[in-house]
Formats: sequence, C-alpha cells, structure tokens
Amino acid sequence: MKEHIPVLLNEVIKNLNPQSNQNFIDATLGGGGHAEKILEKTAPDGILIGVDLDEKAIELAKKRLNKFGRRAILIKQNYKNLKEKLNEQYRDIQIHGILLDLGLSLYQLQDTSRGFSFLNNNLGMKFDEDDDKEDAEEIINSYSQEKLEKIFKEFGEEQLARHIAKQIVNYRNNSKIKTSRELAEIVESVYKKFYRQKSKINPATKVFQALRIYINHEFDNIKSFLPDAIDILETGGKMAVITFHSLEDRIVKEIFKDASHDCICPPNFPKCVCNHRAKIKLINRKVIVPTEREVKDNPASRSAKLRIIQKL
Ligand SMILES: C[S@@+](CC[C@H](N)C(=O)[O-])C[C@H]1O[C@@H](n2cnc3c(N)ncnc32)[C@H](O)[C@@H]1O
Repeated sequence: MKEHIPVLLNEVIKNLNPQSNQNFIDATLGGGGHAEKILEKTAPDGILIGVDLDEKAIELAKKRLNKFGRRAILIKQNYKNLKEKLNEQYRDIQIHGILLDLGLSLYQLQDTSRGFSFLNNNLGMKFDEDDDKEDAEEIINSYSQEKLEKIFKEFGEEQLARHIAKQIVNYRNNSKIKTSRELAEIVESVYKKFYRQKSKINPATKVFQALRIYINHEFDNIKSFLPDAIDILETGGKMAVITFHSLEDRIVKEIFKDASHDCICPPNFPKCVCNHRAKIKLINRKVIVPTEREVKDNPASRSAKLRIIQKL
C-alpha cells in the first residue's frame, strides 16, 4: 500500500508555527503525517489531540505517533462534536493551533473494501464504517432519478447529472449496481455519448465526490465545526484549513470572511444592526497552493488550497 503524503506540509507548519510546549488539534488525523511534524515541533510537553472518524486511520496513526507517548491523544470522533468533547474531557488544555485537512487519505482510497475509488469491488464511501446510515450502494440502487440528479448537481456540480441519474435507473432495472467499478462505467458510458474526447480525469470523479459528500454530511460538518474551532482557539492561536475542491473552499472562505468582519449587515443597510464583531483575522487573502514540485511528487495534492486564520 502506498503511503499517504501529507499535503502542503511545509506551508502548514510554517504558518501554524508550532512552538515548544504548545497544544494542537489535528481534526482530520488520517495517517498522522501533519500530526507527527507538529508533535516534533511542540516537544517536550506539547499535546496533540488527533481526531478521525475512521477507526483504521486512528490505528495507523497510533503506530506512527506511538513514539510521542502521552503527548498524542487520539480519538475516534466526528470533528463536528469536538467542542463538546473538549468541554467534557479536556477543558484545561489551551489550544494554540488547529488543522483541518479535508478530503480522504490515500489509505482510504486504496482500501478495496471502502468503495472510494473507481476500481473497488464494493460501493460504500463511509468515513465511519461503524455508522449504520445509508451507504453508496443503498443510495444508488434505491433513490429516485430526481433525488440522484439533485445529489450529483448539488455536491458535484455535475453537468450531466440528469443523464447520469437516468442511466443509473435504467441500468438497475436489469441488475443491481454492486461495485464502484460498475458505477464508474455507467457514468463513463454517459460521458461517451456527449464528449468525443477523453478527459484527463476519470469522468466519474464528480459523481463519486457528490456521493461521498452526501453520505458523510461533509458540508454540514464543516459549517458546524469552523465556528466552534474559532471558539476553541486561544487568542493568537491559528487555524489552517486545506480543501480539495471549489465547493468546499467556498464554504470555508465565506465563514472566515464573515468571522473576520465587524459588521456583516447587507451592504444596502444604512447602519449596522447586527453588532457582529470580528473574531479572527485572515493570514492569507490569496489561497496557498502546492508548488509545481509538490504536485509532481504527489499528484493527489494538485487541487489543494490552504487558508489560515488567527484568533483575535
Ligand atoms: C486527507 S485525510 C488527512 C490526512 C492527514 N492530514 C495526514 O497527513 O496523514 C482526511 C481524514 O479526515 C477524516 N475525516 C473526514 N471527515 C471527518 C469528520 N467529520 N470527523 C473526523 N474525521 C474526518 C477522514 O477519515 C480522513 O482520514
């Protein structure tokens, strides 16, 4: 299995600037690549609270971070519930920095039992395998054409959403769609009708993205966590967020923009009625993207965008 390479690692570390004995949260621990670097910088006593919804990710990160002993606290948890968890169990730990590295890890992509890649022999797509909510197989085989079209449009901005949804429904009238490979081939067959030229990326990319976002409530999680994360941070603490597509980045950008303004009344209001006060400042107005070198070494980083804020 190929190792997950932490994306924008140098840029994250330079901007979060972890110092000796400071405490950090890695809200999307994955393989623990970013977490390891942070723990090295916060020696000898800095604590890192690492969170992931995926039990397998926690197990993997445990092996990597074992050498830091009790300085690494790893929790299987949805980051959206982190504020509550901290209040219950870690009230005394002051948090100097938070990292949110969205998307999925290479380990999840390569795991054939998970259904995240186009080639899997299973259609799952859940970050939390213990969760008994609907998975991709149930959705693809039971949702109406209209509902599927809406998901592909809303969470994937898929232009052929209606045609793909129709083709899925036609296909499943004959046989159940069981593997991610079958789904990818159905999408590809629709693309072939509309586009002569082969695209550089797999035609099913947006459909898979949409399903993953829908199944894991990814946008709701981000919208609920970012304001909490700002509250959790100490004054002067920083947060870094890495996104991998424009829908995700837009949500982060808007939340940070509002939180960095004193007044968020509509521009046509003659005077402020919201009494909103800025809680953060934006460290980078332009998103930070990977260098050509990084994209060459790690193609998975190609669409990454990094935004950093500081708590006022
Ligand atoms: C891109 S990976 C993180 C990689 C990590 N930074 C590294 O360098 O190894 C994103 C991780 O976030 C996890 N994740 C996604 N949504 C989550 C949520 N709501 N709560 C906690 N973890 C989540 C995924 O399971 C995945 O392991």
